[in-house]
Amino acid sequence: YKRITVKSLGEMKVLGEKISMLTAYDFTMAKILDNAGLDVMLVGDSASNVMAGHETTLPITLDQMIYHASSVVRAATRALVVVDLPFGSYQSDPKEALRSAIRIMKESGAHAIKLEGGKEIKESIKRILNAGIPVMGHLGLTPQSIYKFGSYTVRAKEEEEAEKLKSDAKLLDKMGCFALVLEKVPAKLAKEIAESISIPVIGIGAGNGCDGQVLVVHDMLGMTHEFNPRFLRRYLNLFEDMTNAVAQYVDDVKSKDFPTDQEQY
Ligand code: KIV
Ligand code: NA
Repeated sequence: YKRITVKSLGEMKVLGEKISMLTAYDFTMAKILDNAGLDVMLVGDSASNVMAGHETTLPITLDQMIYHASSVVRAATRALVVVDLPFGSYQSDPKEALRSAIRIMKESGAHAIKLEGGKEIKESIKRILNAGIPVMGHLGLTPQSIYKFGSYTVRAKEEEEAEKLKSDAKLLDKMGCFALVLEKVPAKLAKEIAESISIPVIGIGAGNGCDGQVLVVHDMLGMTHEFNPRFLRRYLNLFEDMTNAVAQYVDDVKSKDFPTDQEQY
């Protein structure tokens, strides 16, 4: 694929080629991800935690999401860029939801938006889709509802919640969403959903039966180190490596080792 589109993702599902997705919030990181051949860059509202240090995803604003999204779009030459609609920018009514989605598309140049929820936000999704904006769904653990759940534990372990999840996934498929994120649900349930709907299911903590995987990039690079869920695979230990590098720099400055004659004018 020269340039990934929402159509390419659907083709990948049909061909059985798994979809790779990571979060991205800034230009420099996004350049690396795009260059490495990643399929989808998600400007997640996890920027609220990772970039701004908030405890939850709730505080991040639409303006702040647009700032992150513009930075990522400027780095994307191949990857599809999907942007989260932040908490409070789509829940009150479908018109507000469409206005927020339009602002993201217009002001950042992103390719698609994502929002959390199923049946409850059906009218909003419909309105956004009708405007020609591709929509990615997000079900299971939906962090914008953390105060309703009370914790970040695995969702849909009970029959009733699993049934609602299945019917929401079918609804998003039927309405014309191009993909669906399933967060922290049992692998067996995620596999069943992926096999029963036509659009790609991209999992995080949802097992290997999904059509693709997503992780928060700072987690998989090991820049964060206090977050250790079972589903997280760390490819580097940058927290340690970067700490050592900075400590070495401090030492070199203090000891007058840096800069040397060759490092000055
Ligand atoms: O904001 C985010 O990082 C996400 C992914 C975890 C799916 O929504
Ligand atoms: Na998110």
